[in-house]
Amino acid sequence: MGQRAFEAEGLHVAIIMDGNGRWATARGRPRSAGHRAGSRAARRIVEAAPGLGVRHLTLYAFSGDNWRRPAREVAALMRLFAAYLRAETRTCVERGVRLTVLGRRDRLPLPLLHAIRAAEEATSSGSVLDLRLAVDYSARDAIALAAARGGVASPDRRAFARALATRLHAREPVPDVDVLIRSGGERRLSDFLLWECAYAELVFTDRLWPDFEPADLEAALAEFGRRERRFGGLGERREVVA
Ligand code: FPP
Repeated sequence: MGQRAFEAEGLHVAIIMDGNGRWATARGRPRSAGHRAGSRAARRIVEAAPGLGVRHLTLYAFSGDNWRRPAREVAALMRLFAAYLRAETRTCVERGVRLTVLGRRDRLPLPLLHAIRAAEEATSSGSVLDLRLAVDYSARDAIALAAARGGVASPDRRAFARALATRLHAREPVPDVDVLIRSGGERRLSDFLLWECAYAELVFTDRLWPDFEPADLEAALAEFGRRERRFGGLGERREVVA
């Protein structure tokens, strides 16, 4: 089980889960309440994803630049991530979800590190969905690190992609991102999977992340299905880095 199963067909969807703060503010509640509601939305999407043909799901939970937020909000987010991992592990095992966490680990609080290791270990044989949570993640750091320490002697794309994928704790290369979804109305990439999104279809929605439902994922995938992907050529050819 495990590794090879994920190389079969199936979409790689990446999501920038934006809008938690505004969702909470609009309700007169603290931002942390928005993040908690956001974690419930993430749960719904993880549950729905396999049924919609998603094989790899990368969720942007915390960027390298998010450390600039007030210490209280950062601490609340770190606690929320640890709680999410602890609460979801059993369900992930039952549903065949393999959970890994992508990003730097040297700045994460110890309880979160323990929760990450436990969740990764417990779910390692999952083969239905490859769920990747990006925490303290920066695409530019990942690229710089792969360039500096990837051991890639020649400028070969595939070799570089492999080096990139195995940095920052991704266990193995995944296919390039097929669809990048950003909720919350902004239209930017915010240092997320810059290399892997080279040919991703970008889908932006004004829906704030806590309100994001499986139907919104379905709509984004339908939109993806309507777009013609040419990869710079004349017809469809999916480039797999593995
Ligand atoms: C962006 O909303 C969201 C984050 C920085 C954190 C993402 C965290 C979650 C979705 C909750 C936890 C998820 C999991 C999987 C445990 P924002 O605070 O930037 O919102 P704003 O733009 O409205 O201020």
